[in-house]
Amino acid sequence: YVIGIDLGTSAVKALLVNREGEVLKEASRPYPVMHEKSGYSEQDPEDWVRGSFDALHELTSALTEDEKIDGISFSGQMHGLVMVDCDGAVIRPAILWNDTRTTAECCEIIEVLGQDQLLKLTKNPALEGFTLPKMLWVKKHEPENWDQLSQFMLPKDYLRYRMTGEVAMDLSDAAGTLLLNVEKGEWSKEVLHAFQIEETHCPPLLFSTDEAGVLLSEVVAATGLPADTKVFAGGADNGCGAIGSGVLKEGMSMCSIGTSGVVLSYENRGDLDFDGKVHYFNHGVPDAYYTMGVTLAAGDSLSWYRRNFAPEVSFETLIEEAAKTPPGAEGLLFTPYISGERTPYADAVIRGSFIGMDQRHSRGHFTRAVLEGITFSLHESINIFREGGKKIDRIVSIGGGAKSDFWLQLQADIFDADIVKLTSEQGPGMGAAMIAAVGSGWFTHLDECAERFLNEEKVYVPKIEMKEHYKNLFYIYQQVYNQTKELS
Ligand code: XUL
Repeated sequence: YVIGIDLGTSAVKALLVNREGEVLKEASRPYPVMHEKSGYSEQDPEDWVRGSFDALHELTSALTEDEKIDGISFSGQMHGLVMVDCDGAVIRPAILWNDTRTTAECCEIIEVLGQDQLLKLTKNPALEGFTLPKMLWVKKHEPENWDQLSQFMLPKDYLRYRMTGEVAMDLSDAAGTLLLNVEKGEWSKEVLHAFQIEETHCPPLLFSTDEAGVLLSEVVAATGLPADTKVFAGGADNGCGAIGSGVLKEGMSMCSIGTSGVVLSYENRGDLDFDGKVHYFNHGVPDAYYTMGVTLAAGDSLSWYRRNFAPEVSFETLIEEAAKTPPGAEGLLFTPYISGERTPYADAVIRGSFIGMDQRHSRGHFTRAVLEGITFSLHESINIFREGGKKIDRIVSIGGGAKSDFWLQLQADIFDADIVKLTSEQGPGMGAAMIAAVGSGWFTHLDECAERFLNEEKVYVPKIEMKEHYKNLFYIYQQVYNQTKELS
């Protein structure tokens, strides 16, 4: 067997996968996100470690003596800043990808480097979620913490560090720090120098399928993993999601709806220029890249809505009620900017809205408006890809958004593209397991592994009348940003 760990924002999930790519068992542990002030989003790295060890223990308890685990690898929420001191102790809570306190630091990055130089060096714009702005924030606001910094890591790298005692980062995750020269696949000396960050603070870089240390004996005891389980570097959750969706060659795209929402497209070149309109990152495969647009609060908007307005009702029931209301929710529109928005607005301050409420509207209408609003926001990214000349006519959908027939059809109708559902919509966790499978020598390449592991279950085709209807509504949706951005 191999194990894929997906260290997400709301929970960690571990998958036990066999040589046919079947998920034999999964174990998950939730943990909280702390929002101490508006725009703040932090987690205690100890929660990740505790949750992961517990989940791993649950998986290994199900194994018999002669069942063997060959390898383990990791997918992780991107960009989160974990700072450790020279004893390897965590200095402060991790600042997460959806924390938006760093607008001033993003402006500073542009002032110091200039937008053109930043794009030339890192291929990406300065966005609040990325790691470098978070480092600059700590440097400015918590100099006593900054002075203790020995090494910075990203979430799944910290978990791997706690399992092996070795510090490393893979390229697909490093790409989201804004410190990596994405094209060359190395830390950018120019960016490090411009912001006085020591190269020794940056972990050694690995490819996703590289081996990354040996399990510590106390971890073997706590998790039940065999001592000779090979540990592989792993990757960013979106890169792993792409691997777990088989997005491994030009022309393939993925839509992932988890806490955040992502539309991602494979690129085989690292020297293209997307003008910073979309994120441009290294893939989990050498010499491969992907571009993507991000909706900050996708599944997060739906969870927020349910938590506040229907905590006693299941997601399934809410979606059933939504499906009974007409497309467009009879004039009710939702924009999902509850934590600001990345693509296309890169605006941390904008907030969401419900517009067009009417006496007729019921809870089903509100749920439908939320689902449609999230999907419209993802469609903004697809629009950017299409305007840039990319053909997006077939998209593999994964994550929570791929669990419901209704939402999958909605994606087909709004995106005007065929939506593919796989037999396993595990995405990032499956991608991590595939990395472990290739690392362990089961397959030579990830695409060979994808052929064995991934199967299509169903394709959702856009319905002509629906797509016309949504095209008109999308036009109205796009007007809302400009009309509401002054409200915050
Ligand atoms: C991507 C991003 C999110 C996180 C979620 O840039 O910030 O998709 O990776 O885990």
